[in-house]
Amino acid sequence: MATLYDSPDRYGLITRILHWGMAVLFAAQFLSAALHWALPREHPVRDFFWSYHYTLGTTLFLLVLLRGIWGLANLRRRPVHFGLIGRAAAAGHLAIYVLMVVVPTVRLVAAAGDKRGFSYLGIPIFPARETDIGWLKTVAEWHGEMGWILAFLVLGHIVMAVGWHHLIKRDGSLKRMAG
Ligand code: HEM
Ligand code: HEM
Repeated sequence: MATLYDSPDRYGLITRILHWGMAVLFAAQFLSAALHWALPREHPVRDFFWSYHYTLGTTLFLLVLLRGIWGLANLRRRPVHFGLIGRAAAAGHLAIYVLMVVVPTVRLVAAAGDKRGFSYLGIPIFPARETDIGWLKTVAEWHGEMGWILAFLVLGHIVMAVGWHHLIKRDGSLKRMAG
């Protein structure tokens, strides 16, 4: 039974819930982005999956802030990564964290400058305005590209966790997160 807090040999319950819960939500977010990219405008399937992109993206933004705070609070207790591959893994996790924050942030900044305004779950966050604020919107120009870089990093992360650590090296890394 996992304890709430992380420890040097395993991640705790809160970290696991955040990791696996967000993994499912990210899969849904990347699916909406992939269909947005692959299907023509006005396609009903594209519209259906796109309908939650803003709300889920904002939810993921809030969750990653929580996860970051929890990760920092547990930093000294967490499993340590040794050697060259270990340091590469830690750098990879850091890159994933940075993009998990930056990708939604730039779009939320753009929403602050959008004349249509922005609401989250019915709560008005940015009011509608008379004109767009151009420079706020330019911040989001790389949102999609950075989103795809995040998707590829996550793909590499999964291949390393399941392929390299679990199936080839059989070093128990996966169990630290999966139980
Ligand atoms: C972690 C959260 C998010 C991820 C991983 C993500 C990912 C992506 C990706 C990969 C694309 C490119 C789709 C394509 O190529 O057609 C995209 C587009 C878009 N996303 Fe997000 N997104 C996130 C959060 C948000 C949020 C919070 C908003 C709005 C408040 C938003 C609004 C948009 C819009 C308007 C586009 C189309 C224009 C563009 O490519 O910049 N996204 N998103
Ligand atoms: C099938 C999907 C996934 C598997 C099998 C998996 C596996 C793992 C494992 C085994 C660890 C512990 C690694 C270690 O201690 O060295 C880990 C940590 C981590 N994973 Fe995943 N992962 C998956 C999906 C994701 C997704 C979708 C994201 C982010 C979008 C993600 C981000 C992270 C991060 C940032 C860490 C560092 C620990 C933390 O702060 O949560 N993972 N993952």
